Amino acid sequence: MTDKYREKIHSKELVATFDDILILPDYTDFSPKEIDISSNLGKYHFNLPIMTAAMDTVTEEVMAIKMALYGGLGVLHRNCSYERQLEMVRIVKRARSFVIDDVATISPNEPVAKAKFMMENYNISGLVVVDDENKVCGIFTKRDIPFLNKDIKNGFIKEHMTKKVISIKPGASRDDATKILYESRKEKLPIIDEGGYLKGLITKKDLAPEFPFASKDDKGHLLCALALSPNLPESTKAQSMLKEIDKFVDIFFIDVADFFKKSDIEGTEKLMRFLDSDFVLGNIGTYKAAEHLITKCDFIGEKFIGLKVGMGSGSICTTSIQTGVGAPTLFATAQVADDIQDYNPKLSLIADGGFKNPGDLPKAITAGADLLMSGHFFAGCTESPGLLDTIQGRKVKVYRGMGSQDARRQGGYISDRYSPASEFLPKTLSEGVSDFVPYVGDLEGVLITLKEGLVNGMIYAGARNIIHMKKSNLGIVTAIGQREQRPHDLLGKF
Ligand code: XMP
Repeated sequence: MTDKYREKIHSKELVATFDDILILPDYTDFSPKEIDISSNLGKYHFNLPIMTAAMDTVTEEVMAIKMALYGGLGVLHRNCSYERQLEMVRIVKRARSFVIDDVATISPNEPVAKAKFMMENYNISGLVVVDDENKVCGIFTKRDIPFLNKDIKNGFIKEHMTKKVISIKPGASRDDATKILYESRKEKLPIIDEGGYLKGLITKKDLAPEFPFASKDDKGHLLCALALSPNLPESTKAQSMLKEIDKFVDIFFIDVADFFKKSDIEGTEKLMRFLDSDFVLGNIGTYKAAEHLITKCDFIGEKFIGLKVGMGSGSICTTSIQTGVGAPTLFATAQVADDIQDYNPKLSLIADGGFKNPGDLPKAITAGADLLMSGHFFAGCTESPGLLDTIQGRKVKVYRGMGSQDARRQGGYISDRYSPASEFLPKTLSEGVSDFVPYVGDLEGVLITLKEGLVNGMIYAGARNIIHMKKSNLGIVTAIGQREQRPHDLLGKF
């Protein structure tokens, strides 16, 4: 008598999700101020183990800059042209660094119109003027743009630039730079060496108060992460754009709904050879998938720094109901965490999506996550892309899945995030929805609430850091217990 199909149903492990479990309390022998919630992703250290999702209603440059300043990471989405991606990564890398070393320059013989175009399109307010040998001969800022249109059209930089350049020597301190900028009432301070060569630029804006917990690279610039398709583009133009983007990115996040696919793996192996930055691969959902990626693929070891997990749990996801397949984030986290332990403990694990309440964050860590990614918590922030709307007197913002019809219509670049279209399968099925979420104010307030949920969870569990928290114990909650966890037996105000 065969029982292979009956066994499939009756002998399977529980595909548990956040509401199904609770962290068990434990003895606490430290004070709240001793808690350390920092975590690592490869060589990168994050004071806040939280990331914003690579979605076009969640993370563009404003969100990415703010997340890095607060100690986390915002992963820029890819539902736009390479030109726009380049613009975003440039803005993030240039932001808030005390010294800009990738200085925008122009030759004295160039037309004023070119400088105006550069300033308007690259989000810069001034250019250092350098001769053919890269020696500084002037500075051209928005204030130098001539008033008359004919001068803008026909004028040259050398006729309108400021020739007397107030500058500073390489290696000068933050205080020295502040003093010179204050006394000269200037906004920009080129760094010029003894020979007159340009070595960098300091701007007044970048000297603004420091964020002590910011996520920075070893040169002091904010960390920058971008979602990436698992396919190396074919055209040489697209390849050179990608190479240019690579210069500003620290970590590429391969961004597909299901990464456990031969074609995506082979594409990513090629990309790793082509690009210099580090890679996080995902999403996956099972022990088998992680085991395959870690032990059987030809990824470049030192560039492969993490795995992102969770399939179908996202608040805007419909993959599980449309296709019947899924791996809820909590379940996927535990599966892949065991793998990392077994085969490569250096890899980091990012639990992605499905978080509904702050208490889900410590639950994911207890299940083995190092870092936590959400779109749902952040789509309603001031810093997310998109305008505020009002519905029945409530302020709202749009939040949409990257597999929703709306998102697909917008970009046209992201069709490979889901199973690809073919002549047999035209790809009309949406795997995400588009809806409104309440406006929740500034990112800082949201992060404070999430951080409090995480820290208080760690205190109850008796864990002073993320490594200890991973050792906490979990219990399964019954369906009746789940009801008891919510406010109950009240008059119904909630
Ligand atoms: P939350 O729960 O934070 O989840 O809203 C965000 C994560 O969901 C994934 N994502 C999608 N999954 N269809 C899906 O099945 C979609 O349209 C979609 N868009 C995003 C993604 O991993 C994200 O980080």
